[in-house]
Amino acid sequence: MAEFVVEFGKSGAMADGRLNAPAFQRNHEAIWAAIAPILSTQTGDVLELGSGTGQHVTTFAARTPQLTWWPSDIYPSHLSSIEAWRQHSSLANLRAPQRVDLTDPAWTWTANGQTGLQLAAMLCINVLHISPWTVAQNLITGTGRYLRDGGRLLVYGPFKRDGEHTAPSNAAFDQSLRAENPEWGVRDIADLNMLAQNAGLTAAEVTPMPANNLVLAFARAVRQN
Ligand SMILES: C[S@@+](CC[C@H](N)C(=O)[O-])C[C@H]1O[C@@H](n2cnc3c(N)ncnc32)[C@H](O)[C@@H]1O
Repeated sequence: MAEFVVEFGKSGAMADGRLNAPAFQRNHEAIWAAIAPILSTQTGDVLELGSGTGQHVTTFAARTPQLTWWPSDIYPSHLSSIEAWRQHSSLANLRAPQRVDLTDPAWTWTANGQTGLQLAAMLCINVLHISPWTVAQNLITGTGRYLRDGGRLLVYGPFKRDGEHTAPSNAAFDQSLRAENPEWGVRDIADLNMLAQNAGLTAAEVTPMPANNLVLAFARAVRQN
């Protein structure tokens, strides 16, 4: 997946700007199987961070008409692709993408300009290992601003458990990531749980996925005031 680490290739874009990610084709059904039990019982709004091509958000929005989905990313070509997939899908519950940069500790998101809306869930797929640690920090801190009580933070990707890689292929992938950018790398669930604890989230429920990936599901505790 190295070629998709930073920016999805423009050469494969369809005329309307839709990009296709092979990793989406491989992984989305397994991701859906892990998160559907959580999301299909919810109503409200879901914010996706680092939406990439927009294929996950479009597919998942089609399966959850009771939820409103808000995609986001940083790259202009990705934002164009997300919007193109949205137009192509004509889904009433899929909103226009917004630029959200998780390296900014004060990152903001609005519901078409309306502030104060509390989210049912936040979703982040294959982002935390291809970005600096501050992105994980800012993602999890952001749950305090945007998740409603009991709301879920759902994160997918490769992760270490208690300092150990879960497979030799993940160790090799981690090395290649760090060689490309010393600030990148496969994160440890224990470190994410520390951030979660400080942000008022439960520790991650861990669901094993194909190809040595995991889904981590955190829940926002009920606020005490
Ligand atoms: C490997 S891609 C995964 C995309 C998509 N979630 C998927 O699984 O197909 C990583 C995505 O994270 C986005 N990204 C990287 N750094 C980011 C940042 N600082 N804030 C928000 N998104 C970022 C990239 O633009 C890219 O779309």
